Amino acid sequence: MDTRAPLSAVAKEHLAFCQDVLHGLAQPQKELACKYFYDERGSKLFDEICQLDEYYPTRTETALLEACGAEIADLIGPGVCLIEYGCGSLAKIRLLIDALDSPALFVPIDISGDHLLDSARALAEDYPELDIQPLIADFTQALALPEKVGQKAKRVGFFPGSTIGNFDHQAAIKFLRTVCETVGEGGGLLIGVDLKKDLKTLIRAYDDTAGVTSAFNLNVIERINRDLDGNFDLSAFCHQAIYNPEESRIELHLVSLMAQTVHIQGVDFRFAKGETIHTENSYKYHTEEFAALAAKAGFTTVKTWVDDNELFSLHYLTVCT
Ligand SMILES: C[S@@+](CC[C@H](N)C(=O)[O-])C[C@H]1O[C@@H](n2cnc3c(N)ncnc32)[C@H](O)[C@@H]1O
Repeated sequence: MDTRAPLSAVAKEHLAFCQDVLHGLAQPQKELACKYFYDERGSKLFDEICQLDEYYPTRTETALLEACGAEIADLIGPGVCLIEYGCGSLAKIRLLIDALDSPALFVPIDISGDHLLDSARALAEDYPELDIQPLIADFTQALALPEKVGQKAKRVGFFPGSTIGNFDHQAAIKFLRTVCETVGEGGGLLIGVDLKKDLKTLIRAYDDTAGVTSAFNLNVIERINRDLDGNFDLSAFCHQAIYNPEESRIELHLVSLMAQTVHIQGVDFRFAKGETIHTENSYKYHTEEFAALAAKAGFTTVKTWVDDNELFSLHYLTVCT
């Protein structure tokens, strides 16, 4: 019989972080999962990125939500249970809540625990009538949704910010399938998806002149130093954003500026000068490519909205019957 005490959620999260980092940095192309950007500081830096002139996704998606709110509300209907995946600072849901007819329940999900709880508290102050049930979780794992979600209201997912672009295509289909199962027959998903566009606009969005995205990228190795007893010299790495045209994705990397060895949890990782750690992908889509991907996951596209400059898209999907 195993008499060891069960690991707490925090200990499990720490262990998973440690295992993923040691595994990712042992690969021929060193890599770190982008979910590890989002500790307290990473979430604040992401909020700063959203305010940058160069970062068109946030303001474009926000403007679409403002312009199309009434139409979206008609499609979604009254009294729904809303589930937001990777909700960040909960800015965009406010527009949806304002547009919708009396949502019954709201479940914001995010991996960045303190940031989620602070954001949920602020939302609850502004929307005292709304039942808000925050869930700190990794949305790529099985989710223990609050019991109330299973009750009668229609379920609608909300996944803004083109976070879907962080998944490769197979992983995106897998994730969307789980959302499809969660919202069930009659349910829906409102999702923001970044579009293919000219190289200059894309690179500017991921490599801003103020260096906020650089700080955001470097924060992941700072986090490894703090939480996993690492000794990365931050001044010996630099931020890089490139577009990979074969894969239609922006890639973020951390480039080693010299030959060096980094120690993490007693393990040595050697870096050649110019070698990189691949830290994020952000896939870009044409609207019809995204509709085809969503169909593979079991969703039908009901309506797609695109801004006049064709920068960003919003899709309302329902579960295929
Ligand atoms: C690109 S930001 C988007 C934030 C917000 N939805 C928006 O539209 O501005 C991605 C968000 O998803 C969260 N996130 C990333 N990976 C996650 C995961 N595996 N599970 C849960 N949340 C995750 C991050 O903490 C962050 O808040």
